[in-house]
Formats: sequence, C-alpha cells, structure tokens
Amino acid sequence: MKVAVLTEALDIERRVPIVPESVKRLLAKKIETTVEPGAGERALSSDATYTAEGATVAASRKDAIAAADLVMRIRVPSLEEVNEMKEGQALIAPLLPLVNTELVKALAERKITAFSVDAIPRTTIAQMMDVLSSQATCSGYHAVLMAASALPRFFPMFITAAGTIAPATALIMGAGVAGLSAIGTAKRLGARVEAFDVRKVTKEQVESLGAKFVEVEGAEDAAAAGGYAKELSEDAKKKQAEAIAKHAAKADVIICTALIPGRRAPILITKEMVASMKPGSVIVDLASEQQGNCELTEPGKTVVKHGVTIIGSLDFPSHVAVHASQMYSRNMEKLLFHLTKEGALTLDREEEITKGCLITHGGEIVHAKANAAGSEKGALS
Ligand code: NAI
Repeated sequence: MKVAVLTEALDIERRVPIVPESVKRLLAKKIETTVEPGAGERALSSDATYTAEGATVAASRKDAIAAADLVMRIRVPSLEEVNEMKEGQALIAPLLPLVNTELVKALAERKITAFSVDAIPRTTIAQMMDVLSSQATCSGYHAVLMAASALPRFFPMFITAAGTIAPATALIMGAGVAGLSAIGTAKRLGARVEAFDVRKVTKEQVESLGAKFVEVEGAEDAAAAGGYAKELSEDAKKKQAEAIAKHAAKADVIICTALIPGRRAPILITKEMVASMKPGSVIVDLASEQQGNCELTEPGKTVVKHGVTIIGSLDFPSHVAVHASQMYSRNMEKLLFHLTKEGALTLDREEEITKGCLITHGGEIVHAKANAAGSEKGALS
C-alpha cells in the first residue's frame, strides 16, 4: 500500500503527518510513503531525509496523490482537497465529522474510505494512536511559553540584590490533556499555579502536579461518558463564574483549555472578568478553534482588551512542529498497522477502533453519529 504525504495549504500549519523516522517502520509492514515535494520542510523534514529513509519524493502534488492508495492529512481537508483525490482512495485526517457535515457528504459521494483521527476512541488500547492527546500535550506546553513571553513580568520568584520578585500566578481553566501539560510547564517555569475543571476526578491530577485546585462550593460533577465533560446547568454555571471571577482578578496568566465535544467551547472568562484583571496580564485561549473560553477572544488573532493581551491562535501545536509531527506520525504508524494486513487496508467494521473512526466507505456515511449529524442539518439526502 502507498500512502501520500501532502503539504498543508494553510501557511500557519507547519506540521506533517508522517515524518522520515516512521518511513522505515512503515516499509517493514509493506506500507510505502510517497511525499509531495517540500511537504515536510516546515517541520524540518527535508525531501532528502525522506528519501534516505526509503520514501519516494513525487515529481508533484498531483503525482503524489495519483500514486497513493491512502492520503494522510494533519488538518481538516477542504472540499477542493477532497476533489483532488481519486474515487476509491482512502483518507486519514481530522474531519470533525459531527460539525463538517458537507465535507463528510462530499467524501461519501467521492467513494473515499475516510477515517477521522479525532474519532479514535479514547481507550487504553487506542492510546498509542490518540492524536488528540499528543497534540494537546504540545498545545498546553506552548501556550504557557506564549503567555510567558507576552507577560511583562517574570514567571518565577527571584531573590536578587535588587529585591525580591514575587512569582506570577497562572490560572489554568480545564485540566484535560492540554491543561495538565500547561500546569506542568507553568510549574517548571516557577509560577504559582491554580487550575479548575468541572470533572471532580481532575482534582487529584492537578494536585499531583503541585498546583492548587480551585474549589467551587456546591459544584456538580460534570463528568460524562468517555471521561469528557458535559454542559453545566445554568445554576452551576453561575456558581462557577462567581468562584472563577475571584481567581481571574488575581491571575497574571490564564490558560483556557476547556472543551465540550461537538459543541461551542463554554464561556468561562467573561468580559467583566477580563476588565477586572491587572493590566499587562495575558490570556491564552486554546479553545479558540471552538470560539474560545474567553468572551473577548478573537480566533486567529492576538488582541488587547482592557490592557489584557488575549491570544487566540489557531496553530498552537505547529509552534513545536518537529515534536508535534513526530508524535502525530508515531500515532499514525500505530493506526496504519491496526488498519492493514500485509500492506493492504483490511477493515473489520465491528472492531472498536475501526468502527469508531471510519466515517465513509463504499459511497456511504457508515458512522452512525456522523450520519445523524448530517441528517439533522438536512445536509444528507
Ligand atoms: P477536552 O479537550 O474535551 O476538554 C478539556 C477539559 O476541559 C476537560 O478536562 C473538561 O472536563 C474541561 N471542561 C469542560 N467544560 C468545562 C468547564 N465549564 N469548566 C472547566 N473545565 C471544563 O478533554 P481532553 O483533554 O481531550 O480529555 C478528555 C478526557 O479523555 C479526559 O478524561 C482524559 O483523561 C481522557 N483521556 C483518555 C485517554 C485514554 O484513555 N486513552 C487519553 C486521553 C484522554
């Protein structure tokens, strides 16, 4: 089987889904890699390194696609990019299939066998393929570095001849994978770290990293199936906002990471809370891909409101493109090994991982939730 690695269209995307170090391991399982010229350059994977590991660098993007049985992507493909593919090819990419219903419909119409990496079940056995976790680790880490460089203060405490400097206080909203990575990074930089999550199980995880868990009196436990959070009741949201407001006003840095699958990110930092923060404070909103946890976040931009810098980048893992690509690529190796036998795509449609992430096949939307999402919007006839 041949997999194609293509250059992502967005300039802000520097990652690549398969790095040279994976090529030999894939070849050993009869999976050949064909690369669009320059596809890995922004992640410092040159064409020469791919060739040295046994990949083929195609003459052009068109040739790379034409040669492939399966196309690998690290960003949600556009409809134009789906149209570049040949009927019957396979695709592995993040598709966000419950939201991108037109895309899913187009994939089915082109008879693409499409797997969505964001739909891989979050189970122990699938951990090695879990790109949500690997990329969230990168995002959480880099969000703190962005905050530290935008903050006109130190993170750590300094005892110097010029006097003692108090450490910065960082408040981390959401203690999932990105939040825990942010806590660890902020602690390593010497900040005083507080964190909050609606899932009570996270308290112990937050404390084990040396951070303080922000308690909300009378809070309900909003843990839902699969370890994700569910949306809070109006009463719970009010209680939470009151508690968070006090901590936000004292924070030098807030890192927002709270998400609810398939929904707009919850608003946790209101414009009033931003106005109450010290001038020069920084908010980094990792939830900006889903409109943000801060009411004043402008996705894709850095803005200053009430003297507070609010960073709403859409390319957090790309800032550590080398390691983000390496981790993604290792995840993809495991997924490809899982989906193939003797170098051929071999689907067991009843098996949990395949069933979880296979979205379209044989001209149909085979994923029940993706199908229902499309029908709800009237996108699928
Ligand atoms: P996520 O990216 O969906 O959300 C980030 C965090 O935001 C979550 O911890 C969530 O509880 C929190 N959140 C949602 N609404 C909030 C609110 N209103 N206020 C404060 N916090 C709020 O979550 P992520 O990082 O993808 O992790 C989800 C779950 O999956 C976790 O339980 C994690 O332990 C689990 N997981 C399991 C894996 C496995 O077994 N293979 C691998 C990775 C994660």
